[in-house]
Amino acid sequence: MSLLDIYVLGAPILRQETRVVEKVDDGVRRLIDDMFETMYAAKGIGLAAPQVGRSERVAVIDIDQKPYVIVNPEILQREGTQRAEEGCLSIPEIYGDVDRAAHVHVKALDRNGEAFELQADELLARCLQHEIDHLHGRLFIDYLGLLKRRAAISKWEKLRKGDKSLTRTISPREVAEQHTRDEEL
Ligand code: NI
Repeated sequence: MSLLDIYVLGAPILRQETRVVEKVDDGVRRLIDDMFETMYAAKGIGLAAPQVGRSERVAVIDIDQKPYVIVNPEILQREGTQRAEEGCLSIPEIYGDVDRAAHVHVKALDRNGEAFELQADELLARCLQHEIDHLHGRLFIDYLGLLKRRAAISKWEKLRKGDKSLTRTISPREVAEQHTRDEEL
């Protein structure tokens, strides 16, 4: 397994549509393993393929030590609403309140290419919606009001101090110290 660089806000791949995975083969499983390793090192709870520069429709999630792989996920049903603060590994240290469905019913393929369905509430439901958005080129800041979105982007640019790089390299030790506050997806 290897740690992958994470693409950050401004990288075009984060805005692109992913492509359907035709067959969950060893190459896709290697990507899944690398994504888990990268997500854990970055102290995230979710990571989608475009965030590591890939265009496969694949995301990984781990909430309370329960890992989920979703390949070609689709939301079949949404119910209710919930609002909570969200962050993203591709926009580190930026957070904002996002309205999401309270409950989702999702279908996807697992790491063996087997179809499964999942009913989720609360944080898992939020995380599924956030990651599935990534697979369609959407980011959580898109849901913020205009002023809050502008404030988030300007804070992000300030934190970057003129750095124009489109990826960040995850160093497990460094990141573990940095992120003590919130969960990023
Ligand atoms: Ni994210």
